[in-house]
Amino acid sequence: MRRWILAATAVAALAWPGAALAQQPIVIKFSHVVAPDTPKGKGSLKFKELAEKYTNGKVVVEVYPNSQLYKDNEELQALQLGAVQLLAPSLAKFGPLGVREFEVFDLPFILPSKAAVRKVTDGPLGAKLMGLLEPKGIKGLAYWDNGFKDMSANKPLYMPEDFRGLKMRIQSSKVLEAQMRALGAIPQVMAFSEVYQALATGVVDGTENPPSNEYTQKMHEVQKYTMLSEHGYVGYAVIANKKFWDGLPGDVRGQLEKAMAEATAYANQISQTENDEALAEIKKSGRSELIELTPEQKAAWRKALEPVYADMASRVGKDTIEEFQKEARGATQ
Ligand code: LMR
Repeated sequence: MRRWILAATAVAALAWPGAALAQQPIVIKFSHVVAPDTPKGKGSLKFKELAEKYTNGKVVVEVYPNSQLYKDNEELQALQLGAVQLLAPSLAKFGPLGVREFEVFDLPFILPSKAAVRKVTDGPLGAKLMGLLEPKGIKGLAYWDNGFKDMSANKPLYMPEDFRGLKMRIQSSKVLEAQMRALGAIPQVMAFSEVYQALATGVVDGTENPPSNEYTQKMHEVQKYTMLSEHGYVGYAVIANKKFWDGLPGDVRGQLEKAMAEATAYANQISQTENDEALAEIKKSGRSELIELTPEQKAAWRKALEPVYADMASRVGKDTIEEFQKEARGATQ
């Protein structure tokens, strides 16, 4: 008899308004592969700050930078399995997932300016691309900038023929493979966390990155030359495990969407400054000589890289390329 009464009392107590058990916080693991002092690193910390503030601590965000939790080729699977809840992979890394269309961002010289990026990501094509992730169990939340890429190597690369035979590290993108082959180089796909060591030991001869990545991974210390080519773009899709995100309480999801919107504005607002400061640090270090290409040299790069568009149209989608270029052209500088 006594046990039954105790149980009934316990149930009644729980039903009492305000007697709810102290709710355990919802934990969001946010994993990424770059250093904390980069646009993506700072954007993830800003999201943590705002998410915990707007949900009044109902959500706790754990940020794991620098491939601490998962490396490039592991993180997407970890997200799909629900082992992490948020990622912000480079747009060049969705091909292995079977979403090839994101590689349109990798086409050399396709973006005339940062303003053009916003026109694409905030326009209908940006939304369409994010929609392609949903059948994979992934919810696209935002686009974050890093910046334009420079080539680096241990020899100066003035003209396409200077690339001949060089082993160049790239992200897992067939468009970037085609880009390096069009320059006469040998593309080597490799996780971001392994690039410094591969450059230092000569496993690869060179690579391409925005200055914020080159500097924070100390690649400039093992690359004698950095060509200020700005031939391509690195940006990110901030993504969530769809089951997790859709399963959140409505009020919490709304608060997290507000935090994400503000963290996105912050990350995109600081990205250019972060890269400018990193480039200044590389110059100050004297470890990697910065090379400005002449207009003739840049024109030669563009000419050598033109065939990549036709070669990759069947992979990325001719319509996707045309829509991208139309929306990018619509940008006022
Ligand atoms: C790379 O792998 O080169 C970059 O995508 C790393 C990053 O996420 O910025």
